[in-house]
Amino acid sequence: MTMKLTTDPSAATLLPIAKKEGISTVWDRHRAMQPQCGFGQLGVCCRICWKGPCRIDPFGDGPQRGICGADADTIVARNVIRMIAAGAAGHSEHGRHVALALQGVAEGRLPAYQIRDEAKLRAVAAKLDICTEGQDIAAIAAAVAKATLEDFQNQDHDAPCNWIEATLTKKRLERLQALHVLPHNIDAVITQIMGRTLVGCDADPVNLILGGIKGALADFDGMCLATELSDALFGTPSPVITAANLGVIKPDAVNIAVHGHNPLLSEVVCEVAGQMDEEARKAGAKDGINIVGICCTGNEVMVRHGIPLAANYLSQELALVTGAVDAMVVDVQCIMPSVSEIGACFHTAVITTMAENKIPGATHVDFKEETALENARRIVATAIEAYKRRDPRRVNIPDFKQTAIVGFGVESVVGALATLNAEDPLQPLIENIANGNIRGIALFAGCNSTQVAQDSSFVTMAKKLAANNVLMLATGCGAGSFAKHGLMTQEATLEYAGDSLKAVLTAIGTSAGLNGPLPLVLHMGSCVDNSRAVQVAVAVADKLGVDLDQLPLVASAPEAMSEKAVAIGTWSVALGIPTHLGTMPQVTGSAKVTELLTQTAKDLLGGYFLVELDPALAADKLLEVIEERRKGLGI
Ligand code: SF4
Ligand code: FE2
Repeated sequence: MTMKLTTDPSAATLLPIAKKEGISTVWDRHRAMQPQCGFGQLGVCCRICWKGPCRIDPFGDGPQRGICGADADTIVARNVIRMIAAGAAGHSEHGRHVALALQGVAEGRLPAYQIRDEAKLRAVAAKLDICTEGQDIAAIAAAVAKATLEDFQNQDHDAPCNWIEATLTKKRLERLQALHVLPHNIDAVITQIMGRTLVGCDADPVNLILGGIKGALADFDGMCLATELSDALFGTPSPVITAANLGVIKPDAVNIAVHGHNPLLSEVVCEVAGQMDEEARKAGAKDGINIVGICCTGNEVMVRHGIPLAANYLSQELALVTGAVDAMVVDVQCIMPSVSEIGACFHTAVITTMAENKIPGATHVDFKEETALENARRIVATAIEAYKRRDPRRVNIPDFKQTAIVGFGVESVVGALATLNAEDPLQPLIENIANGNIRGIALFAGCNSTQVAQDSSFVTMAKKLAANNVLMLATGCGAGSFAKHGLMTQEATLEYAGDSLKAVLTAIGTSAGLNGPLPLVLHMGSCVDNSRAVQVAVAVADKLGVDLDQLPLVASAPEAMSEKAVAIGTWSVALGIPTHLGTMPQVTGSAKVTELLTQTAKDLLGGYFLVELDPALAADKLLEVIEERRKGLGI
């Protein structure tokens, strides 16, 4: 029996077209790759030096040590923490980029950018303990950028990074400090992981995993600063009604898909597109320019400006198969290299924009913050030119899109709660958790993977948790799944939420002026915005005087695949959150590492990984965890 590839309804229209046109998609390549390497799946393949590759025989008959003497525990631990380092590097490089842009704005060097949310910048300054009295906004921006960039250059091992110190509960900081896993410098911690995993270095799996946890917490630090500084520069999300799935592509518009993760360019593309709309109409596009999002760049502009989301990770290629995307502009992360080839089958201009992220066959526009407006104009002009070459006979836009109410950052969640209790906004949330109307909170994060029928695990789990009155938050491609499947609507709340959750969401939504309930799942933004969910959790924990590992809070990445998800999942565990994985992590070749991550972590940190590939069972297990936590709190 062939596995169902995707539950996205758009695919039923587009996969047959791809086949007819001879275009191979991610699912074709997945099939061609079977059977996949069993050693790799277990994490026991080592390619760290050129005496190798070595692999450990999982059945015990063949070699139990690599040529250098490394055993399965060492090899698995080294492999997984290198994944964490890569994930942390991706997120924190994104964060550094935003911090440098803030510094440039403070110094008046970047005319394309400004501080769009001064209140947020002031709040960030206060959080970082920066005195703002009598300072103008440029001076505050400079001080915030400086304190942020210190997290990349502090050399004092005993002084934790500024952002993590300003973000977590006191108890959590003490616990992490006692384990020596609080990062002092994001770059240094990532470098240490690369250094200690060289041939002939750290061979102790426990020590390696602790190093990995430190790296994951460096990832968390990078995400916090990326999110908060992006809000200051581009605006803090607030609820907005938009739409998701490939039906948001318009037949009579110049369609520009913004794809990747970093909002620095896409923000300017959105602005410039507004100015160049007339040019698109002159070229024959009677609906002007239509920007649509893919992956997390899509989430960034969706939660801030209501730009519709066309696709999450696995269906990025299908966006091109519609034949109606005139330009796909990509920045960093989660961009399949296949897009340039598929774009070339149509008229689509695939445009890379970052010096460190190029794709053979794509057009490269060298994006720099200093020249952002000019770069964005060139990109939009390229899209308009491409539109003129579009073949209308090859246009197939699936008639699927769902309404999505998105944009639930900490501020908007607290704002909505404040309409019920202005003096003490968190009180209604805490009361409803305590009285059991809300059993617990689940954060859905992470990717799509070809190991799972696209979106199916997200949707199955959410429906079950909703029926059991769990409040759900989502980010990244998980949020994309829910948006595409209509679970970010008021109707979904009415249809799927258990009675008490429905009553709470209705009370908050109505009081906040939404004329009905909050959507079933709250869209908090992109992958880096997982830090928003932590902020809500920390605020609740602080108010209750407990730590994060006592809250009825769980996280889930049901369709995880990226190294970034490995980093996020690991810091989630380090913060005390039981964290579900719905795809098999590549660590099971070491009983020791598996035990460390799924059991020992619970004693050390309160959080732990819970692996369950069946989404319905996974939901049951998370419900059990939530009840166990409630019992611990005596509620
Ligand atoms: Fe083999 Fe050791 Fe080299 Fe890894 S580091 S490839 S186990 S010899
Ligand atoms: Fe993402």
